[in-house]
Amino acid sequence: MAKVSAGAAAPAGAAGASPRARKLVLVGFMGAGKSRAARRAAERLGIDALDSDLLLERSLGEPIERFFEREGESAFREREEALVLELLDREDAAVVALGGGAVKSERVCERLARHVCAYMEVDVELAWERVERSDRPLARDRAGFAELHGERLKLYEAVARVVVPAAEEAGLDAALDAALALARADVPDTVGMAWASASTPAGGYPVFVGDGALQATGALWSLGGRCFAVADERAHALHGERFEAGLDSEGGPSLAGAILVPPGEKEKTVTGAERILRLLAEAGMQRSDALAALGGGVVGDLAGFCAAVYQRGVPVVHVPTTLVAQVDSAYGGKTGVDLPEAKNYVGCFHQPAAVFTDPTVLSTLPAEELRAGFAEVVKTALIAGGELWTEACSLEPLERSLGRDAEAVERMIEGCLRTKLRIVAADERDLGGRAALNLGHTFAHALEAATAYERFRHGEAVALGLLVALRLSERELGLDPSVRDQALEVLARHGLPTAYSGPPLDELLGFAARDKKRRGGERNLVLLRAPGDVAIDCEVPDALIADAVDEIRERS
Ligand SMILES: NC(=O)c1ccc[n+]([C@@H]2O[C@H](COP(=O)([O-])OP(=O)(O)OC[C@H]3O[C@@H](n4cnc5c(N)ncnc54)[C@H](O)[C@@H]3O)[C@@H](O)[C@H]2O)c1
Repeated sequence: MAKVSAGAAAPAGAAGASPRARKLVLVGFMGAGKSRAARRAAERLGIDALDSDLLLERSLGEPIERFFEREGESAFREREEALVLELLDREDAAVVALGGGAVKSERVCERLARHVCAYMEVDVELAWERVERSDRPLARDRAGFAELHGERLKLYEAVARVVVPAAEEAGLDAALDAALALARADVPDTVGMAWASASTPAGGYPVFVGDGALQATGALWSLGGRCFAVADERAHALHGERFEAGLDSEGGPSLAGAILVPPGEKEKTVTGAERILRLLAEAGMQRSDALAALGGGVVGDLAGFCAAVYQRGVPVVHVPTTLVAQVDSAYGGKTGVDLPEAKNYVGCFHQPAAVFTDPTVLSTLPAEELRAGFAEVVKTALIAGGELWTEACSLEPLERSLGRDAEAVERMIEGCLRTKLRIVAADERDLGGRAALNLGHTFAHALEAATAYERFRHGEAVALGLLVALRLSERELGLDPSVRDQALEVLARHGLPTAYSGPPLDELLGFAARDKKRRGGERNLVLLRAPGDVAIDCEVPDALIADAVDEIRERS
């Protein structure tokens, strides 16, 4: 999502218009459903939406297609630009839909920075299905259409502060409500939103992301009742004040009680959950209240689990404060606690009601935690491919880039979280495609288990697991060896291990065989044909795995 003001958190509304004058402007490719979404958003405010294509047609006095054919694209764009600039300045419009190509104009893009621009994200297949039988001049052949889609995508991404998946009907109204709330709230322009589709009554949940999201919780809070919190002790000491002040502002709920959890995985147990549940009961938490989780993946999993079972379910709002949580664990609704027998063995799915992801809190994260989180970034970037992979490869170590190039880090976090949202939306209950997120994890889990979770941080084990998975991908699926070379280089640059001295192979393979994500007793791995092209359920012979593991084993 675009940042309309660079650098440190801008004062509320700095680069844009005042919240009252700020419009919600819908942009996106042909067939994304912008006009319909604009009508629906306007209806929610009891007003009419402005639609640039309809108004342009009216002012041209003929269908757009006819004018376009006769006068050509540049004459059309000129007329379109003039009209759109006027619409964006009009005081009587709170919701505007723009034609798909309006963002080609630099002047329009500049003007959009005063408003909240929502990009209706549609994939090329769905867009083509919706427009192939129309008269649109730019939708005549499939190949040209796909090329244009790829070009335009970058323009939409550059202006958008909100991203809504256009395919989802179920969550559309709730997504529009959250986007309207963002347009009207007095929060920094650096805060954007991605809509996460999920099978909740609202059809999903908003992920507010960017510099200042931590202070925006109150202004963007859409739940009634009171807020209780489960917070990581260290994250609370460092960021609790900002979190509480944000919650309490702009009509948000004040904090009714906070339960602190000592750092580390020790409290992520059934006993730890019981302690929290009993404290919530003592404090009188009701089903109408919500539970906020302030901290890393441990607190997110633990609080999410407590929220799922407390009085058979209360809403959970995640406020992730580690890189692992910001790129991965805060989204997708997996909650749980550990058993002495195995990690994450007890739990359930409980989708968040909202997530507030503020990358500025990462500035206090110890270097080793940043490094561990970066392994998940590399995994996600390999799954996503494209620009995310390219950017991950070129990123400086995070301790440095957080200070020098915070925007690049934010872009990367947004890219990762949107990749996770996309994968989870397609397989919420982890019955198929969500397995893609396990890239590198079979070996990582085996290594962690074989060393009693003491020798390697999870991120370090993931780094090694990725190298194993990439080598197997070369052998089994013809992955270009340069991908593994690049991964190895970037992992090493970020201080992650690329070799280990550890348990013998047969022990590791034994642990891999106990992986709870196995199905039907086969050794199914997630492999990669190319960055962005994941293959799940690949049966790989033990001998090949042994070779790939042996390769990263240090000889003493
Ligand atoms: N639910 C999911 O989908 C999912 C996905 C991945 C991982 N997980 C789980 O996440 C957990 C790991 O999460 P994690 O890596 O975030 O670890 P964590 O929650 O233990 O946090 C790591 C450390 O960072 C500290 N910390 C947190 N925020 C800080 C901040 N802003 N500044 C300074 N210190 C801060 C904590 O006190 C802790 O010591 C594991 O239990 C794993 O099972 C869950």
